[in-house]
Amino acid sequence: MNERYPSLFEPLHLPNQIRLKNRVVMAPMTHMSSNADGSVSDAEIAYYARRAHGVGMVITAATWVAPSGGIPGAPGADRDAFLPGLRKLATAIQEQGAKAILQIFHAGRQGTLTGDLVSASDVPEQKEGASVPRPLAEEEADALVLAYGQAARRAVEAGFDGVEIHGGNGNLLHQFFSPFTNRRSDRFGGSPEKRMTLALAIVDEVKRVVAAHAKTPFIVGYRLSPEEPETPGITMAETLRFIDALASKGLDYLHVSLINYASVPRRGSTTPARALRSFKNAPAGSCPSSESGASIRRKTQSKRWRPGPGSSRSAASSSWSRTG
Ligand SMILES: Cc1cc2nc3c(=O)[nH]c(=O)nc-3n(C[C@H](O)[C@H](O)[C@H](O)COP(=O)(O)O)c2cc1C
Repeated sequence: MNERYPSLFEPLHLPNQIRLKNRVVMAPMTHMSSNADGSVSDAEIAYYARRAHGVGMVITAATWVAPSGGIPGAPGADRDAFLPGLRKLATAIQEQGAKAILQIFHAGRQGTLTGDLVSASDVPEQKEGASVPRPLAEEEADALVLAYGQAARRAVEAGFDGVEIHGGNGNLLHQFFSPFTNRRSDRFGGSPEKRMTLALAIVDEVKRVVAAHAKTPFIVGYRLSPEEPETPGITMAETLRFIDALASKGLDYLHVSLINYASVPRRGSTTPARALRSFKNAPAGSCPSSESGASIRRKTQSKRWRPGPGSSRSAASSSWSRTG
């Protein structure tokens, strides 16, 4: 063991008192090995069983909440028929001593499962041959809020220890928060606060469903990407406002991700370390952060993550990526 990082191997109590045996977290990685219908495959179970030993927490591959947000080979959590496979997945991770977190998402304009390409607005991906997505109607966005809640209910029923709402790496919630991909003028578009509307409604719904269905403490985390290269695009200033809003929701952790491990901050900060410090110094006062699962405590906080002002529970972690 590298003695420079002893705290990596210390247990960590999340705000809801769930204890991780150490601070090493397996990042969510889309593996393209689910069955064609989105059910969990045997290969997928074997993959997680081989990797879950030793880490404190495993976050699964992005798991779609509605077919329009799916990707072939990724798992789904949009129907009760998927519960048996999801149960096996949670058990395979937990048998290795790790907490099992189901990452739930909608790919938006990256969704290739159904051919019904949807996004916040009609802005295609910046790659050759990309199709133009259709903007979601307000009622469709409202329906997706419920879909995230139902995916969280299935995670509870399947025996997972928590869910991570994936709002980073260019997926639908990222597309709604970004001024580059969100050109709407309804309640979901315009100011940063309006662009947060969908994400915050989903957090509320997931928390509501979890409170109604989970009989024991259940982790709810959120993943976001703090900056974009485009202009207009998500800036650190907007992200810090978003983090304040998320911190007031009593989440158990935030997970920050930008493109991939080699990405560097784009505006305002010159190194990942400085960018991370700006999260730790965010005014919410309630978001400790960690990078690739290693806890970095806020100056204002003691060893155990504590709720901040106006927040019953919140915490943060970070890594830098873009994929699923
Ligand atoms: C093959 C592959 C698949 C990935 N799939 C997902 C995913 O499903 N969900 C997600 O949030 N991030 C996904 N990522 C991003 C990783 O979680 C991670 O953030 C990225 O590899 C950067 O590593 P780091 O967190 O150690 O900096 C994926 C990365 C890779 C390489």
